Amino acid sequence: MAIGRIGQALTAREIFNLIGEDLRQVENEIALESVASVDTITSIARYLQASGGKRLRPALLLLSARLLGGGGKSAIRLGAVVEIIHCATLVHDDVIDEASTRRGRVSTNAQWGNHTSVLAGDWLYMQAFQIALRERNFRILDILISLTQMMVEGELIQFERLGRADVSEADYMDLVDRKTAALFSTCARLGALVAGADPSLEAKLGDYAWNLGMAFQLIDDVLDFTAREQVLGKPVGNDLREGKVTLPLIYALEQATPAEQDMVATILRERSYAAAPFADVRRMIERHGGFERAKLRAEQYTEKARTLIGEFPESPYQRALYAVTELVTERDH
Ligand code: IPE
Ligand code: IPE
Ligand code: MG
Ligand code: MG
Repeated sequence: MAIGRIGQALTAREIFNLIGEDLRQVENEIALESVASVDTITSIARYLQASGGKRLRPALLLLSARLLGGGGKSAIRLGAVVEIIHCATLVHDDVIDEASTRRGRVSTNAQWGNHTSVLAGDWLYMQAFQIALRERNFRILDILISLTQMMVEGELIQFERLGRADVSEADYMDLVDRKTAALFSTCARLGALVAGADPSLEAKLGDYAWNLGMAFQLIDDVLDFTAREQVLGKPVGNDLREGKVTLPLIYALEQATPAEQDMVATILRERSYAAAPFADVRRMIERHGGFERAKLRAEQYTEKARTLIGEFPESPYQRALYAVTELVTERDH
């Protein structure tokens, strides 16, 4: 397919350049909106913004808006909203996961402590809604509130499931939908909405981004085992240590020997790699094809995303959204 070749040829830089000016305005908006009447919150909001991050969610929203002929102030504003919501979930997630690093820096919980981080996360959520409210559009608020509830429910389900080895693939996929794919889908839908697109196009674009988000989290869970912390910018091996059984491990456990199953159960119980080193677990998953299968599953989601985006008329934005699917499965951070 011709579009495949064109899509593959686009690099991350080229994709981001297409919407470079919009993204700069999103950054301005975030900076302007990162000021609280309490200095600690302002410091945390600024710290988060300055520490980088891929800005994938605002990029998705802006590309979606442009694809359907929209853009402008509403897209900029909502780009800031989705990035701030994302940051709030990261701040809370790092408290729950007891993570020490984020975006290559000391995480907010490690720097300011759990109590302050929880409150800063709450403030960020409310600030995002405050900005969204300026659109005076109940549909936008409805979408964002449902999304946030779904994400919080996801974190809670995950928390309740910590330490359990008997997680099914279906349980896992439901969690990935809540934690990650729902926000990706929302970004595309909001982009379509501000472009005034018809509901069927909004749904299709949302579906594209949902599949992209599923693949993104599956790869994130593979990277938690296979990446180097310096490249990833956040802890490696953390999921299992925190008691989370993710897809590569779910697949490996299907083939594992009783001794290997015991090893995993011990790590889950003790929440540490004292009994068996992380490298042993990684090798075990590798041996049973857990990474391979999880990556294949991720590719099935990106394949579906590609089919959906291929149904839109050709344009630079369509090619960029197509190329994003390649970046997601090939990423190393
Ligand atoms: C991290 O998202 C949370 C997941 C859904 C895995 P990103 O990897 O997009 O984080 P940043 O924004 O680039 O730091
Ligand atoms: C990502 O969950 C989803 C969020 C909503 C933060 P993870 O726990 O896998 O995210 P990372 O790996 O800490 O970024
Ligand atoms: Mg985490
Ligand atoms: Mg992770």
